[in-house]
Amino acid sequence: MHGQNSLNPNSPELHYLTGFQNHFETEIIAGALPKNQNSPQKPAHGLFSEQLSGSAFTAPRNHNLKSWLYKKKPSVAFSQFKRAAPHPTWLNPASPEHFEITPEALRSHPFAPKDHDKTFLESITTFTQNGNAQQRAGSAISMYYATQSMSTQYLCNADAEMMIVPNTGDLFITTEMGLMTCAPLQIAVIPRGIKFKVDLINPGIPARGYVLENFGAPFQLPELGPIGSNGLAHARHFETPVAFCETLGTPTTVFTRYLGELFTTAHPDSPCDTVAWHGNYAPYRYDLRKFNTINTVSYDHPDPSIFTVLTSPTPQAGTANVDFVIFPPRWMVAENTFRPPYFHRNTMSEFMGLITGQYDAKPESFRPGGASLHNCMTPHGPDTKSFESATHRNLAPEKLDHTMAFMWESAYPYVPAKQWINSEFIDRDYPKGWAF
Ligand SMILES: [Fe+2]
Repeated sequence: MHGQNSLNPNSPELHYLTGFQNHFETEIIAGALPKNQNSPQKPAHGLFSEQLSGSAFTAPRNHNLKSWLYKKKPSVAFSQFKRAAPHPTWLNPASPEHFEITPEALRSHPFAPKDHDKTFLESITTFTQNGNAQQRAGSAISMYYATQSMSTQYLCNADAEMMIVPNTGDLFITTEMGLMTCAPLQIAVIPRGIKFKVDLINPGIPARGYVLENFGAPFQLPELGPIGSNGLAHARHFETPVAFCETLGTPTTVFTRYLGELFTTAHPDSPCDTVAWHGNYAPYRYDLRKFNTINTVSYDHPDPSIFTVLTSPTPQAGTANVDFVIFPPRWMVAENTFRPPYFHRNTMSEFMGLITGQYDAKPESFRPGGASLHNCMTPHGPDTKSFESATHRNLAPEKLDHTMAFMWESAYPYVPAKQWINSEFIDRDYPKGWAF
C-alpha cells in the first residue's frame, strides 16, 4: 500500500502526470479510485473519501479547482488544534509591528544566516508582504535556509498557495497527493491546504531559496494574446505527482498556518496517506529551462510581462495580484537599442531574486540568493557600470547565457519586514550604484 521515501530523485516511485490543472486520476492500488462517482457508499479498501476544494463551489468552470482524495484516515480525525509557539522569523503579515513602510529601493546580499541548523519550516524568514490571508489578496515573500529535513513535521498552509523557488540544494517534497523533487531552476507550487513536508536530498548542505505565499487567486497560465496559441510556459510541461501513501510508523505533527499564526495537530502517522485521488487541485512542478522565451527581433524591448510564467489575477483585467516572471537565457539581437532593462518607474511593485548566474542590469552586485525590492513608482534601472557598457558596446547578436533571475510583481505595494531591512544582509550601498 505504501512506498518508501527513499529521498532518491531517480526513484522509480517518482512519476508525474503532465498538464496544467487538467483533471487527473491516479491510484496506487487498483480499484481505490471509485468508478464514475466521487463519494461511494463504501469506498474500496476501507478508504475515506474527502473533497478538497481550492475555489468556491460555484466558481466558473475554468477557475473551479477541486480534488477528491481517498485517504486511509479522513483529515477531520486529527483536527484538534493547539496554538504553536510564535515562529521567530516567519511573520504574521497582518501584524503591522513587524513591518516598516519605505519607498526606498532595497537590495540584500545572499541570505546565509550564521549558526543556523534548521528545517525548511523553521528557517522561513519573511522579507516583505503586501496583503494578508483574511483579505484573500496580496502575498508574502520569504526566504528559507534549511540544513535539516522536516522528517516527521508537516505544513498545511490554510492561508496561501505556496510557490517555492530553490536557489541551492535539491528538495524532496512529500505531499498529500504525491512526491516531488525540486532542484534549482525548477519551481514547486503547493496549493492552499495541501499538507506537505520538505526534506533535503543532501542533509547538512544548506538548501536556500525563495518562498511566496499567494493569498489571492491561484496561479494560472497567462493569456497569450497576439503571441498566439504557443509560447511562454506550455501546459504540457507542468508536472503533478501521482498518488503516494506514506507510512512512517511514528507519530507526526502538522503545523497549520492560519491567518498568519501557527497551530499544531498530532497524528499517529504520516498525514500524507492518500491512496488515490482525482481532480485538478494538486501540487505541481515546472522546470524554468522549458520556458519558451519570446523577445524582440527588431529594436527596443517588450515589457517584462513577456516573460510571465504564471499569474495570479486581480478582478481588474490585466492587473496581477502577483505575476511570476523569469529572466531566462536568451539571445539579445535588438538593434540601436539600450539592451539591459531600462530606467523605469512602475505602478506595479517588483521583488526580484536571482537563482543562478548574473542579472544583466547589475552583473556584479546582484548575486544568486540575493533579493531586491522596487516598490510602486520607486525609480530603478541599470547601475552606472552597466549603463556605460550597454551604451557603448557593439550590438552584435549575443547570447545571455547561464542566468536565471525572477520577479514577483504585484499591483499592491510591498511593505518590507523590519527583520529584513535591519539585517546584516541589506546592501546599504545600493543607491550608490546609480551615480549619474
Ligand atoms: Fe523594474
